[in-house]
Amino acid sequence: MSNKSLAKTPDETCILVTGGAGFIGSHTCVELLEQGYSVVVVDDLSNSSQVALDRVRRITGTDVADQMHRLVFHKASILDRQALDQIFAEHSIDAIIHFAGFKAVGESVSKPLEYYWNNIAGTLVLCDVARGHGVKNIVFSSSATVYGEPEFIPITEDCPKHTATNPYGQTKSMLEQILTDLYVGDNEWNVVLLRYFNPIGAHESGLIGEDPKGIPNNLVPYVAKVAVGKLEAVGVFGNDYPTPDGTGVRDYIHVVDLARGHVAALNWMGGKVGTGKAIGLGSLAGTPAEDGTRRGVGIFNLGTGTGSSVLDVIKAFSAACGKELPYVIKPRRAGDIATNYAACDKARTELGWVAEYDLDRMCQDSWRWQSRNPDGYATAQ
Ligand code: UD1
Repeated sequence: MSNKSLAKTPDETCILVTGGAGFIGSHTCVELLEQGYSVVVVDDLSNSSQVALDRVRRITGTDVADQMHRLVFHKASILDRQALDQIFAEHSIDAIIHFAGFKAVGESVSKPLEYYWNNIAGTLVLCDVARGHGVKNIVFSSSATVYGEPEFIPITEDCPKHTATNPYGQTKSMLEQILTDLYVGDNEWNVVLLRYFNPIGAHESGLIGEDPKGIPNNLVPYVAKVAVGKLEAVGVFGNDYPTPDGTGVRDYIHVVDLARGHVAALNWMGGKVGTGKAIGLGSLAGTPAEDGTRRGVGIFNLGTGTGSSVLDVIKAFSAACGKELPYVIKPRRAGDIATNYAACDKARTELGWVAEYDLDRMCQDSWRWQSRNPDGYATAQ
Protein backbone atom coordinates (compact mmCIF):
# COMPACT_ATOMS: atom_id res chain seq x y z
CA MET A 1 0.00 0.00 0.00
CA SER A 2 1.40 3.41 -0.90
CA ASN A 3 2.03 6.13 1.66
CA LYS A 4 -0.33 8.96 2.63
CA SER A 5 0.77 12.19 0.98
CA LEU A 6 1.76 15.22 3.03
CA ALA A 7 1.45 17.47 -0.02
CA LYS A 8 -1.44 19.42 1.44
CA THR A 9 -2.17 22.24 3.83
CA PRO A 10 -2.25 21.79 7.63
CA ASP A 11 -6.02 22.19 7.79
CA GLU A 12 -6.34 19.15 5.53
CA THR A 13 -3.84 17.14 7.57
CA CYS A 14 -4.43 14.91 10.59
CA ILE A 15 -1.55 14.00 12.90
CA LEU A 16 -1.53 11.10 15.32
CA VAL A 17 0.41 12.15 18.41
CA THR A 18 1.37 9.22 20.64
CA GLY A 19 2.15 10.34 24.17
CA GLY A 20 0.33 13.59 23.41
CA ALA A 21 -0.68 14.18 27.03
CA GLY A 22 2.95 14.22 28.18
CA PHE A 23 5.33 17.14 28.62
CA ILE A 24 6.68 17.51 25.09
CA GLY A 25 3.59 15.92 23.54
CA SER A 26 1.14 18.44 25.01
CA HIS A 27 3.26 21.40 23.90
CA THR A 28 3.49 19.92 20.42
CA CYS A 29 -0.31 19.54 20.30
CA VAL A 30 -0.59 23.28 20.99
CA GLU A 31 1.74 24.18 18.12
CA LEU A 32 0.04 21.76 15.71
CA LEU A 33 -3.44 23.06 16.54
CA GLU A 34 -2.26 26.65 16.21
CA GLN A 35 -0.95 25.85 12.74
CA GLY A 36 -4.34 24.42 11.77
CA TYR A 37 -3.65 20.67 11.96
CA SER A 38 -6.14 18.18 13.33
CA VAL A 39 -4.71 16.10 16.13
CA VAL A 40 -5.53 12.64 17.41
CA VAL A 41 -3.81 11.84 20.70
CA VAL A 42 -3.14 8.30 21.85
CA ASP A 43 -1.85 8.10 25.40
CA ASP A 44 -2.21 5.45 28.10
CA LEU A 45 -1.83 8.13 30.82
CA SER A 46 0.76 5.95 32.58
CA ASN A 47 2.93 9.00 33.16
CA SER A 48 0.66 11.86 32.14
CA SER A 49 -2.70 13.46 32.83
CA GLN A 50 -5.74 14.09 30.69
CA VAL A 51 -5.93 17.50 32.36
CA ALA A 52 -2.98 18.49 30.15
CA LEU A 53 -5.22 18.02 27.11
CA ASP A 54 -8.03 20.06 28.67
CA ARG A 55 -5.46 22.79 29.12
CA VAL A 56 -4.27 22.40 25.51
CA ARG A 57 -7.89 22.92 24.45
CA ARG A 58 -8.11 26.06 26.56
CA ILE A 59 -4.90 27.50 25.13
CA THR A 60 -5.90 26.83 21.53
CA GLY A 61 -9.63 27.54 21.70
CA THR A 62 -10.42 23.96 20.73
CA ASP A 63 -12.60 23.67 23.84
CA VAL A 64 -15.30 25.45 21.86
CA ALA A 65 -17.98 23.11 20.48
CA ASP A 66 -17.36 23.72 16.77
CA GLN A 67 -13.61 23.19 17.24
CA MET A 68 -13.74 20.15 19.50
CA HIS A 69 -13.19 17.66 16.69
CA ARG A 70 -9.74 19.14 15.99
CA LEU A 71 -8.31 17.48 19.09
CA VAL A 72 -9.47 13.96 19.79
CA PHE A 73 -8.18 11.83 22.66
CA HIS A 74 -8.02 8.04 22.88
CA LYS A 75 -6.80 6.43 26.08
CA ALA A 76 -4.83 3.49 24.78
CA SER A 77 -1.42 1.92 24.90
CA ILE A 78 0.61 1.71 21.71
CA LEU A 79 0.95 -1.99 22.55
CA ASP A 80 -2.78 -2.40 22.03
CA ARG A 81 -2.99 -3.44 18.39
CA GLN A 82 -6.77 -3.63 18.35
CA ALA A 83 -7.21 -0.15 19.81
CA LEU A 84 -4.71 1.32 17.35
CA ASP A 85 -6.35 -0.44 14.45
CA GLN A 86 -9.67 1.09 15.40
CA ILE A 87 -8.17 4.55 15.76
CA PHE A 88 -6.57 4.38 12.30
CA ALA A 89 -9.88 3.13 10.89
CA GLU A 90 -11.80 5.96 12.52
CA HIS A 91 -9.50 8.85 11.60
CA SER A 92 -7.85 9.68 8.32
CA ILE A 93 -4.37 9.97 9.78
CA ASP A 94 -1.62 11.36 7.54
CA ALA A 95 1.44 11.24 9.78
CA ILE A 96 2.56 10.18 13.24
CA ILE A 97 4.55 12.06 15.82
CA HIS A 98 5.69 9.37 18.19
CA PHE A 99 6.49 10.43 21.77
CA ALA A 100 4.98 7.57 23.77
CA GLY A 101 7.61 5.75 25.79
CA PHE A 102 9.07 5.26 29.23
CA LYS A 103 11.86 7.74 29.89
CA ALA A 104 13.38 7.47 33.36
CA VAL A 105 17.05 6.55 33.04
CA GLY A 106 17.49 5.03 36.53
CA GLU A 107 14.23 3.10 36.41
CA SER A 108 15.18 1.65 33.03
CA VAL A 109 18.20 -0.02 34.64
CA SER A 110 16.04 -1.83 37.19
CA LYS A 111 13.15 -2.53 34.78
CA PRO A 112 14.80 -3.36 31.46
CA LEU A 113 12.07 -5.75 30.38
CA GLU A 114 9.35 -3.14 30.88
CA TYR A 115 11.39 -0.54 29.00
CA TYR A 116 12.26 -2.73 26.04
CA TRP A 117 8.75 -4.11 25.86
CA ASN A 118 6.93 -0.81 26.05
CA ASN A 119 9.27 1.27 23.94
CA ILE A 120 10.41 -1.23 21.32
CA ALA A 121 7.45 -3.58 21.01
CA GLY A 122 5.07 -0.61 21.27
CA THR A 123 6.75 1.12 18.35
CA LEU A 124 6.73 -2.07 16.28
CA VAL A 125 3.00 -2.48 16.83
CA LEU A 126 2.41 1.18 16.03
CA CYS A 127 4.38 1.03 12.77
CA ASP A 128 2.80 -2.24 11.71
CA VAL A 129 -0.74 -0.97 12.24
CA ALA A 130 0.12 2.36 10.59
CA ARG A 131 1.55 0.59 7.55
CA GLY A 132 -1.60 -1.51 7.30
CA HIS A 133 -3.54 1.74 6.96
CA GLY A 134 -1.14 3.25 4.44
CA VAL A 135 0.52 5.66 6.87
CA LYS A 136 4.30 5.66 6.56
CA ASN A 137 5.18 9.17 7.70
CA ILE A 138 6.69 9.25 11.18
CA VAL A 139 8.55 11.76 13.32
CA PHE A 140 10.34 10.04 16.18
CA SER A 141 11.24 11.47 19.53
CA SER A 142 14.90 10.57 19.87
CA SER A 143 17.53 11.95 22.20
CA ALA A 144 21.06 13.30 22.34
CA THR A 145 21.63 10.32 24.59
CA VAL A 146 22.34 8.31 21.40
CA TYR A 147 25.72 10.09 21.13
CA GLY A 148 26.81 8.70 24.51
CA GLU A 149 30.11 10.30 25.48
CA PRO A 150 30.29 12.54 22.39
CA GLU A 151 33.37 12.37 20.19
CA PHE A 152 33.29 16.10 19.59
CA ILE A 153 31.49 19.24 20.76
CA PRO A 154 29.36 20.91 19.46
CA ILE A 155 27.70 17.66 18.42
CA THR A 156 26.69 17.45 14.77
CA GLU A 157 24.36 14.78 13.42
CA ASP A 158 27.43 13.08 11.92
CA CYS A 159 28.93 12.51 15.36
CA PRO A 160 29.12 8.73 15.77
CA LYS A 161 26.57 7.09 18.02
CA HIS A 162 27.86 5.24 21.06
CA THR A 163 26.38 2.45 23.08
CA ALA A 164 24.03 3.91 25.65
CA THR A 165 24.79 3.18 29.29
CA ASN A 166 21.19 2.32 30.17
CA PRO A 167 18.17 0.56 28.64
CA TYR A 168 16.28 3.84 28.13
CA GLY A 169 19.09 5.16 25.94
CA GLN A 170 19.33 1.81 24.18
CA THR A 171 15.67 1.96 23.23
CA LYS A 172 16.19 5.38 21.61
CA SER A 173 19.19 4.15 19.69
CA MET A 174 17.57 0.88 18.65
CA LEU A 175 14.38 2.59 17.53
CA GLU A 176 16.41 4.95 15.34
CA GLN A 177 17.88 1.85 13.70
CA ILE A 178 14.51 0.11 13.39
CA LEU A 179 12.89 3.13 11.75
CA THR A 180 15.86 3.53 9.42
CA ASP A 181 15.55 -0.13 8.42
CA LEU A 182 11.86 0.39 7.68
CA TYR A 183 12.84 2.91 5.05
CA VAL A 184 15.62 0.70 3.69
CA GLY A 185 13.15 -2.14 3.26
CA ASP A 186 10.36 0.01 1.85
CA ASN A 187 11.22 3.37 0.27
CA GLU A 188 7.67 4.59 0.78
CA TRP A 189 8.55 5.39 4.40
CA ASN A 190 9.27 8.96 5.36
CA VAL A 191 11.10 9.09 8.70
CA VAL A 192 12.44 11.97 10.78
CA LEU A 193 14.55 11.29 13.87
CA LEU A 194 14.69 14.31 16.16
CA ARG A 195 17.48 14.19 18.71
CA TYR A 196 16.46 16.39 21.61
CA PHE A 197 18.96 17.98 23.92
CA ASN A 198 17.56 19.02 27.35
CA PRO A 199 13.95 20.21 27.09
CA ILE A 200 12.77 22.49 29.90
CA GLY A 201 10.45 25.49 30.28
CA ALA A 202 6.70 25.53 29.82
CA HIS A 203 4.03 27.21 27.73
CA GLU A 204 3.91 30.93 28.53
CA SER A 205 0.27 30.62 29.67
CA GLY A 206 1.45 28.67 32.74
CA LEU A 207 -1.28 26.11 31.94
CA ILE A 208 0.88 23.21 30.79
CA GLY A 209 4.32 22.10 31.87
CA GLU A 210 6.42 19.23 33.15
CA ASP A 211 4.80 17.15 35.87
CA PRO A 212 7.15 14.39 37.00
CA LYS A 213 5.90 11.82 39.48
CA GLY A 214 7.76 11.74 42.81
CA ILE A 215 11.18 13.30 43.26
CA PRO A 216 12.42 14.58 39.91
CA ASN A 217 15.51 13.00 38.33
CA ASN A 218 16.23 15.89 36.01
CA LEU A 219 17.76 19.17 37.03
CA VAL A 220 15.16 21.80 36.20
CA PRO A 221 12.11 19.98 37.61
CA TYR A 222 14.16 19.48 40.78
CA VAL A 223 15.13 23.16 40.95
CA ALA A 224 11.49 24.11 40.39
CA LYS A 225 10.42 21.97 43.37
CA VAL A 226 13.02 23.69 45.54
CA ALA A 227 11.73 27.07 44.35
CA VAL A 228 8.16 26.18 45.28
CA GLY A 229 9.26 24.94 48.73
CA LYS A 230 8.62 21.22 48.21
CA LEU A 231 12.29 20.22 48.33
CA GLU A 232 15.00 21.75 50.49
CA ALA A 233 18.06 22.33 48.32
CA VAL A 234 19.35 21.43 44.89
CA GLY A 235 22.00 18.72 44.90
CA VAL A 236 24.68 19.65 42.38
CA PHE A 237 26.14 16.42 41.01
CA GLY A 238 29.84 17.22 40.91
CA ASN A 239 31.81 20.46 40.67
CA ASP A 240 35.09 19.00 39.44
CA TYR A 241 34.25 18.55 35.77
CA PRO A 242 36.53 20.17 33.16
CA THR A 243 33.99 22.97 32.57
CA PRO A 244 34.19 26.73 33.34
CA ASP A 245 32.65 26.40 36.83
CA GLY A 246 33.24 22.67 37.34
CA THR A 247 29.57 21.67 37.00
CA GLY A 248 28.01 19.77 34.10
CA VAL A 249 27.20 21.73 30.94
CA ARG A 250 24.06 20.98 28.90
CA ASP A 251 22.11 22.43 26.00
CA TYR A 252 18.77 23.39 27.54
CA ILE A 253 16.02 24.05 25.03
CA HIS A 254 12.62 25.62 25.60
CA VAL A 255 9.90 23.00 25.15
CA VAL A 256 7.92 25.40 22.93
CA ASP A 257 10.91 25.73 20.59
CA LEU A 258 11.22 21.97 20.61
CA ALA A 259 7.52 21.56 19.83
CA ARG A 260 7.89 23.95 16.89
CA GLY A 261 10.75 21.78 15.66
CA HIS A 262 8.18 19.01 15.13
CA VAL A 263 5.99 21.24 13.01
CA ALA A 264 9.09 22.17 11.00
CA ALA A 265 9.85 18.47 10.56
CA LEU A 266 6.37 17.89 9.13
CA ASN A 267 6.87 20.74 6.69
CA TRP A 268 10.21 19.24 5.69
CA MET A 269 8.64 15.84 5.11
CA GLY A 270 6.00 17.49 2.99
CA GLY A 271 8.74 19.06 0.82
CA LYS A 272 7.71 22.56 1.91
CA VAL A 273 11.09 23.65 3.31
CA GLY A 274 14.75 22.79 2.87
CA THR A 275 16.86 21.93 -0.12
CA GLY A 276 16.11 18.21 -0.20
CA LYS A 277 19.82 17.67 -0.67
CA ALA A 278 21.69 14.94 1.13
CA ILE A 279 23.58 16.13 4.18
CA GLY A 280 25.70 13.37 5.59
CA LEU A 281 22.96 10.82 5.08
CA GLY A 282 24.04 9.27 1.81
CA SER A 283 21.33 7.22 0.21
CA LEU A 284 18.98 7.75 3.14
CA ALA A 285 18.64 11.47 2.53
CA GLY A 286 15.21 12.78 1.72
CA THR A 287 14.71 12.44 -2.01
CA PRO A 288 11.58 14.01 -3.44
CA ALA A 289 8.67 11.73 -4.26
CA GLU A 290 6.39 12.37 -7.25
CA ASP A 291 4.08 14.61 -5.24
CA GLY A 292 7.04 16.74 -4.09
CA THR A 293 7.11 15.27 -0.59
CA ARG A 294 10.19 13.52 0.75
CA ARG A 295 10.96 9.89 1.24
CA GLY A 296 13.95 9.00 3.37
CA VAL A 297 15.40 9.33 6.83
CA GLY A 298 16.11 12.82 8.13
CA ILE A 299 18.14 13.20 11.32
CA PHE A 300 18.17 16.50 13.17
CA ASN A 301 19.52 17.77 16.47
CA LEU A 302 17.11 20.03 18.30
CA GLY A 303 19.03 22.22 20.71
CA THR A 304 20.08 25.85 21.05
CA GLY A 305 23.80 25.40 20.48
CA THR A 306 24.48 27.09 23.84
CA GLY A 307 25.86 25.24 26.84
CA SER A 308 24.79 26.19 30.39
CA SER A 309 26.18 24.81 33.62
CA VAL A 310 24.20 23.53 36.60
CA LEU A 311 25.12 26.72 38.47
CA ASP A 312 23.97 28.85 35.50
CA VAL A 313 20.59 27.14 35.73
CA ILE A 314 20.29 27.66 39.48
CA LYS A 315 21.19 31.33 39.02
CA ALA A 316 18.70 31.88 36.20
CA PHE A 317 15.94 30.13 38.12
CA SER A 318 16.73 32.15 41.27
CA ALA A 319 16.31 35.32 39.22
CA ALA A 320 13.04 34.05 37.77
CA CYS A 321 11.48 33.19 41.15
CA GLY A 322 12.97 36.15 43.01
CA LYS A 323 14.88 34.27 45.69
CA GLU A 324 18.31 32.69 46.04
CA LEU A 325 17.85 28.95 45.71
CA PRO A 326 20.00 26.89 48.07
CA TYR A 327 22.26 24.18 46.70
CA VAL A 328 24.76 21.66 48.01
CA ILE A 329 27.61 20.05 46.11
CA LYS A 330 27.24 16.27 45.87
CA PRO A 331 29.33 13.55 44.24
CA ARG A 332 29.11 13.06 40.49
CA ARG A 333 26.15 11.03 39.25
CA ALA A 334 27.12 7.76 37.57
CA GLY A 335 26.87 7.90 33.79
CA ASP A 336 26.95 11.73 33.54
CA ILE A 337 29.23 13.46 31.07
CA ALA A 338 30.91 16.84 31.49
CA THR A 339 29.68 18.76 28.48
CA ASN A 340 26.99 18.23 25.91
CA TYR A 341 25.66 20.75 23.41
CA ALA A 342 24.41 20.70 19.87
CA ALA A 343 25.44 22.04 16.53
CA CYS A 344 22.12 23.24 15.14
CA ASP A 345 23.14 24.24 11.60
CA LYS A 346 21.40 21.34 9.93
CA ALA A 347 18.01 22.07 11.49
CA ARG A 348 18.46 25.74 10.58
CA THR A 349 19.34 25.22 6.94
CA GLU A 350 17.14 22.20 6.20
CA LEU A 351 14.13 22.65 8.47
CA GLY A 352 14.28 26.43 8.59
CA TRP A 353 14.03 26.10 12.36
CA VAL A 354 15.98 27.82 15.13
CA ALA A 355 15.41 27.93 18.87
CA GLU A 356 14.28 31.40 19.94
CA TYR A 357 14.16 31.37 23.72
CA ASP A 358 17.12 31.75 26.10
CA LEU A 359 17.74 30.20 29.52
CA ASP A 360 16.22 33.15 31.42
CA ARG A 361 12.99 32.80 29.48
CA MET A 362 12.97 29.02 29.99
CA CYS A 363 13.28 29.49 33.76
CA GLN A 364 10.63 32.24 33.85
CA ASP A 365 8.15 30.01 32.04
CA SER A 366 9.03 26.98 34.21
CA TRP A 367 8.48 29.08 37.30
CA ARG A 368 5.13 30.41 36.08
CA TRP A 369 3.93 26.83 35.51
CA GLN A 370 5.34 25.51 38.81
CA SER A 371 4.14 28.38 40.98
CA ARG A 372 0.62 28.28 39.55
CA ASN A 373 0.48 24.46 39.69
CA PRO A 374 2.53 23.48 42.76
CA ASP A 375 1.06 19.96 42.60
CA GLY A 376 1.24 19.70 38.84
CA TYR A 377 -2.00 18.42 37.34
CA ALA A 378 -2.92 16.43 40.47
CA THR A 379 -5.23 19.02 42.00
CA ALA A 380 -6.00 20.87 38.79
CA GLN A 381 -9.51 21.78 37.68
C1 UD1 B 1 19.07 13.08 31.30
C2 UD1 B 1 19.35 11.67 30.91
C3 UD1 B 1 19.21 11.54 29.40
C4 UD1 B 1 17.80 11.96 29.00
C5 UD1 B 1 17.52 13.36 29.51
C6 UD1 B 1 16.06 13.68 29.30
C7 UD1 B 1 20.90 10.81 32.61
C8 UD1 B 1 22.28 10.35 32.89
N1 UD1 B 1 20.68 11.28 31.36
O1 UD1 B 1 20.02 13.94 30.68
O2 UD1 B 1 19.46 10.22 29.01
O3 UD1 B 1 17.66 11.93 27.61
O4 UD1 B 1 17.77 13.45 30.91
O5 UD1 B 1 15.80 15.00 29.63
O6 UD1 B 1 20.03 10.78 33.45
N2 UD1 B 1 22.04 17.56 37.85
C9 UD1 B 1 22.32 18.00 39.13
N3 UD1 B 1 21.39 17.78 40.11
C10 UD1 B 1 20.20 17.16 39.88
C11 UD1 B 1 19.93 16.70 38.58
C12 UD1 B 1 20.86 16.91 37.58
O7 UD1 B 1 23.38 18.57 39.38
O8 UD1 B 1 19.40 16.99 40.83
C13 UD1 B 1 23.01 17.86 36.77
C14 UD1 B 1 23.50 16.64 35.99
O9 UD1 B 1 24.67 16.12 36.58
C15 UD1 B 1 23.75 17.28 34.62
C16 UD1 B 1 22.70 18.38 34.51
O10 UD1 B 1 22.32 18.67 35.85
O11 UD1 B 1 25.02 17.88 34.57
C17 UD1 B 1 21.46 17.95 33.72
O12 UD1 B 1 20.94 16.76 34.24
P1 UD1 B 1 19.52 16.18 33.77
O13 UD1 B 1 18.50 17.24 33.82
O14 UD1 B 1 19.25 14.93 34.57
O15 UD1 B 1 19.75 15.83 32.24
P2 UD1 B 1 20.88 14.91 31.54
O16 UD1 B 1 21.65 14.13 32.52
O17 UD1 B 1 21.64 15.78 30.61
